[in-house]
Amino acid sequence: NEKKLKKFFIGSIDQGTTSTRFIIFDGLGEPVVMHQIEFSQMYPQSGWHEHDPEEIVKSVEQCIEHATKAFVNLGHDVSEIKAVGITNQRETTVVWDKNTGKPLHNTIAWPDTRTKGLVRELKSQDGADELQEVCGLPLSTYPSSVKLVWLLKNVDAVREAYEEGRLAFGTVDTWLLYKLNGGPERNVYVTDATNASRTMFMNLYTCEYDDVLLEFFGLDPKKLNLPKIVPSSSAEHFGSFAYGPLKDIRIAGCLGDQSAALVGQQGFTPGSAKNTYGTGCFLLYNVGEKPVISKHGLLATVAYDFGGNRKPVYALEGSIAVAGSGVKFLMNNMGFIRDSDKVGELARTVKDNGGCVFVTAFSGLFAPYWIDDAKGTIFGITQHTERGHIARATLEATCFQTKAILDAMERDSGHKLAQLAVDGGMSKSNLCMQTQANVIGIPVERPAMRETTALGAAIAAGFAVNIWKEFDELREINQKDRVIFMPNISKEESAKMFKKWGRAVEMCRGWLD
Ligand code: G3P
Repeated sequence: NEKKLKKFFIGSIDQGTTSTRFIIFDGLGEPVVMHQIEFSQMYPQSGWHEHDPEEIVKSVEQCIEHATKAFVNLGHDVSEIKAVGITNQRETTVVWDKNTGKPLHNTIAWPDTRTKGLVRELKSQDGADELQEVCGLPLSTYPSSVKLVWLLKNVDAVREAYEEGRLAFGTVDTWLLYKLNGGPERNVYVTDATNASRTMFMNLYTCEYDDVLLEFFGLDPKKLNLPKIVPSSSAEHFGSFAYGPLKDIRIAGCLGDQSAALVGQQGFTPGSAKNTYGTGCFLLYNVGEKPVISKHGLLATVAYDFGGNRKPVYALEGSIAVAGSGVKFLMNNMGFIRDSDKVGELARTVKDNGGCVFVTAFSGLFAPYWIDDAKGTIFGITQHTERGHIARATLEATCFQTKAILDAMERDSGHKLAQLAVDGGMSKSNLCMQTQANVIGIPVERPAMRETTALGAAIAAGFAVNIWKEFDELREINQKDRVIFMPNISKEESAKMFKKWGRAVEMCRGWLD
């Protein structure tokens, strides 16, 4: 069986906030080839964050070209790739003309806070308090709904297309599926339940759009075309490549990136959780086949939906807006390091944070705080402060927010997590993961192969084309050489650090624009 699985290959497009990857995995879940490209981040005003939708597609095409070439150079044939899965940054909003397939604006990326004022208005509107019960998300600048409303109010071309019924709206999965299938000709216009659950337009219980939600945002379901919501693993809905080296190969999996990471970490049983340190950092906790609506600042979301006779599985999520982007800030804005990977080295030049606490609230603060008027603030600077202290405080900021999220999760679920599975860029840093274990007081477990997001999309595609039929068949995947970080400071010491963080969070509220 092992020999047979080694001959099956599955491609995975991982379209993240700052970079795109294409990885080809074999049937044992081992990556065979990979290509990664960073693409442009646009910050036209303070708090605004955009991407060029065409550049995103180009980055996918280039990654596929390079990785496929390397695959063929290893002696393989493209026809050995049985299917491709897509996973993507979530909430980021794309609008295009459905007749021409041309974008009508740059994307509004998920951390963008231009909708702050709009959100405040919406919060005072009738029905605002009932939204979360239906869609699982608190009203904030984060979901796609408010980004779309902003575009309709502020961009004539978007408004006109909407009035004329020409407007196509989608998260990045929908945009990529549409484009890779050849655009308006085939007009593949779908999304999966995990991505749709981030728009604020989907009823979490039915996994269908809900007119009450659309009406709340002033949207007319007759004018607004919405992509069809389908399961995350499916051989019939996502079409196939219309061009390029993968022409005619089926796309069979589609998941938001955090859901994909949960699948890649095999978080299939209720009570399992994973934390992914990407551009942001997202902790997902599997709650089983019924959604749990948070009372403590978390989100309820679809974890994955493998279709067929399997029911959708839900998660509680704690979303942190800034993780790797904090490291990028130290590199690009402050010039502290030349390469993100060197942040651990810089942090090690000092023995502790020297009294510094950095609340990295570049997009306000997300879970569990939801403080939209917080701004990034560094506390505790003295003549003694060095770059190393600030690097440490930057890494610690994500660890502290993870602790606050785990506390909220314990209150919502009544269950204390025994161990936390981690992945993503910042998890490479041993210092950061040791700090994480110390702050949360439970072991932190890191797999050797950290491309779990891409692996999750490959698994979804593999299930759709019957490479695997049961989750049990995956149990050997990525199990070797896992590293466990055990907490190595006292509970008192850890509580003292966290108390200081809590005070810093309170102090960065209400910053004037
Ligand atoms: O919700 C946003 C999230 O999907 C972005 O993920 O990995 O690009 O930080 P990442």
